[in-house]
Amino acid sequence: MTVTDTATLAEDLAAARRRTLDLVAHLDRADVERQIAPIMSPLVWDLGHIAAYEDLWLVHRHAGLDLLRPDLAALYDAFETPRAVRGDLEILGLDEAVAYMAEVRARTLAALDRVGPDPVIHEMVLRHELQHTETMRQAMSIAGLLPPGEPRLPSFGPGPAADEWLDVPAGTFGLGAPDGRFSYDNERPRHAVDLPAFSIARRPVTNGTWMRFVEGGGYERREWWSDEGWAWKEEYDITHHASVEAGDEDAPACHVSWFEAEALARWVGARLPTEPEWEKARERLDGVGLVWEWTASEFGGYPGFVAHPYREYSEVFFDSEYRVLRGGSWATHPRVATTTFRNWDLPQRRQLFAGVRLARDPEGLPR
Ligand code: AVJ
Ligand code: FE
Repeated sequence: MTVTDTATLAEDLAAARRRTLDLVAHLDRADVERQIAPIMSPLVWDLGHIAAYEDLWLVHRHAGLDLLRPDLAALYDAFETPRAVRGDLEILGLDEAVAYMAEVRARTLAALDRVGPDPVIHEMVLRHELQHTETMRQAMSIAGLLPPGEPRLPSFGPGPAADEWLDVPAGTFGLGAPDGRFSYDNERPRHAVDLPAFSIARRPVTNGTWMRFVEGGGYERREWWSDEGWAWKEEYDITHHASVEAGDEDAPACHVSWFEAEALARWVGARLPTEPEWEKARERLDGVGLVWEWTASEFGGYPGFVAHPYREYSEVFFDSEYRVLRGGSWATHPRVATTTFRNWDLPQRRQLFAGVRLARDPEGLPR
């Protein structure tokens, strides 16, 4: 398991906390407390939610104590309180939220000393905080509030060309996370998958390629879009994201939705990789970890899926409209961005640090 001993765990929790608090240190209180966009929480909600989640799992459930603030439980529960209404709530202000985080953390450390670490629950809470710092960065990006030096989206240097493909021969491989170390329920159980041969791009699509799509009528020509994608584009007057035009032409395109990713792939005469294809090729790919990579796959459970330790992490999102993203972005902590990690979001979403890596059948025909 990833978590080995109490001292290391306490240090890792402290490092995650420094990372969270450093992120908002340069912001004005008003920017931390306001709701930046209806699809995002106020940053201060994320702070309170991080603490409430930690108290629930590490103090209440793991160590058996009462919640520190039962009155806050519903406010900071992601299901009881959807993002759209989080701006209108009487939630803790910045100073109160930071104090709540510290109080919960003291309880967590005391409980850890008394009861010891749980290899699943502690790792889950740690990664939860790390994941929320990426969500917070998404909101900050929308508002132009990212700290200096971010986003970290470097141009590709020398290496495989933008249009180079990697051929992966047909064969069976193990999809999903092995036993014996932490993974989320949706990555299990590892199971054999037999794939036909496919090709996958050596690099994610760049801003330069995306702009050629734009100039070639990418957002005007119907034939590259799915029915749903076209309807969405028309309804919201979507064109390329500002960051694609502003970014370096050799840097990966970012802030693209699944609908757009799919249209661009059709323009190239390619398609999005499926999740198994992505995972099978992972160790041979360049440029993983800069932008999340949309896959063709809808989010669902692997055969034999068992929800653990809580249903709300992934199962409630299965078999709806959610599409899976793989890899991780510049904003994802490496502890989260494992080879088997599955991220998901709706096909119209563009706030993610997400781009595209193309795939195709070996003869170059879209499937
Ligand atoms: C895995 C990023 C889709 O933000 O909904 C945070 C992570 N789950 N708190 C999300 C998560 C509960 C999750 N994603
Ligand atoms: Fe959360």
